[in-house]
Amino acid sequence: MKVPSITINNGVKMPQLGLGVWQTKDGNQVVHAVHAAIESGYRLIDTAAMYDNERGVGKAIKTAPVSREELFITTKLWNSDQGYGSALKAFNASLERLGLDYVDLYLIHWPVPAMDKYIETWKAFEEIYASGRAKAIGVCNFNPEHLDRLLQTATIIPAVNQIEHHPRLQQHELRSYCAAKGIHVESWSPIGGTGGNLLDDPTLAMIANKHKRSVAQIVIRWHIQLGLIVIPKSTHAERIAQNIKVFDFELDTDDMAKISRLNTNTRRGPDPATMSSGAPTRLVQLASRLNLVKLPRDKH
Ligand code: A2P
Repeated sequence: MKVPSITINNGVKMPQLGLGVWQTKDGNQVVHAVHAAIESGYRLIDTAAMYDNERGVGKAIKTAPVSREELFITTKLWNSDQGYGSALKAFNASLERLGLDYVDLYLIHWPVPAMDKYIETWKAFEEIYASGRAKAIGVCNFNPEHLDRLLQTATIIPAVNQIEHHPRLQQHELRSYCAAKGIHVESWSPIGGTGGNLLDDPTLAMIANKHKRSVAQIVIRWHIQLGLIVIPKSTHAERIAQNIKVFDFELDTDDMAKISRLNTNTRRGPDPATMSSGAPTRLVQLASRLNLVKLPRDKH
């Protein structure tokens, strides 16, 4: 399957569909998932410092059957590294773990308004972009109020805003805001996230039955038809292969309308306005591994 590209606001081409590796273990699990994805035709891989698998992603890239230049690698700056100097340092550490000399997209993971550091963080991002070590820069989980504030001093408009977005959280206002500013929206937890029950929805099952596709494929196709970038996560090769097979059928207007009626404005992750974790990356990773915090719902 060939994935179409989206041209983001600085002219860079970004694949419209990629593999999310949140909650995919570093080492063999992430290497296998990334390789399965690349073999199925994926070129976009979305990781983050907080996911604790940048080394495995780097290993998978080194041993992949395609060249690094053919891939589009995204990583993200964790909250506790926000700030001008700490962001520059954290970016170097991410590059080192990935074994790369550039990433395709570098994102601020959360605005964390309680910390109020994203303005100075963005200055570091602009410098990283100017150095060519990130081909594009952007944000995640920014609401219009955070973007409004950022844009007052930014010299570079974020290329992407990666947000929680799925049929139960359709974020119409935020999507319109981003469209008006030329910021491309990328959906995280696109099929409702781990432990969610979106895939059991009877309306989606009916549409899936009509198209002889899985419910996951219907939901991924819905993101694609909305023009969004989408990064479903799976550690299973057969699901990874299934999730990219969404470019050979189309949802009709009735299907799209039915899915649009599933919106309940229900988040599975934290609210960006109040999410306040400034805990250091390693501590958050450790807490996640020991199940001390419920990261699927808490942090993404
Ligand atoms: P797994 O990794 O065990 O395959 P999201 O991308 O919305 O965060 O959702 C990811 C969740 O959906 C994961 O729990 C993943 O589980 C599961 N998943 C991914 N692809 C499929 C699929 N095609 N069918 C069913 N579940 C899927």
